[in-house]
Amino acid sequence: MAKFPKVPKGIPKKGPPKPPAFAPKKFAPKSVPKKFEQANPPVFIPKATHGQPISDFRFPSKEPVQAPPAIPSRLSLDSEFDAPVPRGGAKAKKIPMHPRDFLLSEEEKQAPHHIAKVNKWRSWPLFVMGLTAFGIGVYGVQLYISITEAPEVEGGVPEDLSDRFDKEADGYDEKVNMAETMLFLKGKRKLLLAKAKGHVLESAVGTGRNIPYYPTKKCETVTLLDQSAPMLAVAKRKWKDEQPEYFHRVFFKNQSALDPITPPYDAQDGYDTVIQTMGLCSTAEPEKLLQNLEAATKEDGGQILLLEHGKSHWEWLNKLLDKTAPAHANEHGCWWNKDIGKIVQDSGLEVVAMRRYNFGTTWWIEMKPRKGMRTKQAKSAGVVFQQAPLPLPSGAVAQKPWWNFWG
Ligand SMILES: C[S@@+](CC[C@H](N)C(=O)[O-])C[C@H]1O[C@@H](n2cnc3c(N)ncnc32)[C@H](O)[C@@H]1O
Repeated sequence: MAKFPKVPKGIPKKGPPKPPAFAPKKFAPKSVPKKFEQANPPVFIPKATHGQPISDFRFPSKEPVQAPPAIPSRLSLDSEFDAPVPRGGAKAKKIPMHPRDFLLSEEEKQAPHHIAKVNKWRSWPLFVMGLTAFGIGVYGVQLYISITEAPEVEGGVPEDLSDRFDKEADGYDEKVNMAETMLFLKGKRKLLLAKAKGHVLESAVGTGRNIPYYPTKKCETVTLLDQSAPMLAVAKRKWKDEQPEYFHRVFFKNQSALDPITPPYDAQDGYDTVIQTMGLCSTAEPEKLLQNLEAATKEDGGQILLLEHGKSHWEWLNKLLDKTAPAHANEHGCWWNKDIGKIVQDSGLEVVAMRRYNFGTTWWIEMKPRKGMRTKQAKSAGVVFQQAPLPLPSGAVAQKPWWNFWG
């Protein structure tokens, strides 16, 4: 027969471990059913003082030994357990468990108002799950209808779709709200914007769906740019409503992001942060647009943050997107089947991080500008950077006319 190794001091010599002091009566070793005790006589498993099992330990017999039922180590709000089967009786009723329940007597736990309270709390997760399932269902049906009823575009889709946004500006937010909620995009926008700092440029800002998430305390200035004047006008109104105290530090630029972008006077080295969300889908020259954003970004420490949508990881989904893309673009001005990874690669910008969500259709991309590209691009576009005035040498006294006593 195998011998037990020496038991370190401080370890109890026999019997199953004592239940924790706070455990209810039901956990006491007494409640282990008799049947179980006979089939599996208690076996003492020695442990080292720090909870490490002793490596050369062997069970005394070769018969498989079933471990005693585990005592839950942590009690959650909704946890419940089967009460031990009373001797000869039917299975006991399920009793809800809550840390506070230890303070209640058996009678109080069975009281109708207590059971009603527990049931009320249990219905919340079901309600949330039901709502989510309903939302996904509605979105799925909408998607299915738009896919199966995708009309052919007569004469093809024009390359310049900018007028679609001009027409849609006022109802744009209501139209995209549902889809964005289903795709959990609000959270992603919030996380992306949390990275903004210094002088910030947001390209293709649209109606300003990121405005509520700007960490203005970290931003010296914010420039919002869009080629559609009606979209930019909605963004301007939104900023006034959402962050009025910061409005005086926001610039609104109605221009194409394909044209040279001049940063504010005190950011002549370029913007510290350039952001664009859902912009590549609606521009005819996405690679050029990225290179132009690179030229507007500060070479040392500048960051370019994108949240875009396009091709998926999945072929079946790509087929659906391809099939419906022309009609969708013709109506809304956005191509939802673009290969964002390829666009970024072809632009040549340096990728720092890339993540994909929603079957791979949502692209989170962090980039940094390449050295020398800002000056190179500015030269080829004929841009002359404004130089900030040199600071006065220390000790120099600013001149003022002799008659000015108080200036
Ligand atoms: C799909 S909306 C996205 C709006 C917003 N960024 C968002 O996350 O909801 C695309 C926007 O990009 C703008 N846009 C497209 N091409 C552009 C360009 N070359 N320069 C500036 N804005 C452009 C459109 O006018 C439109 O407002």
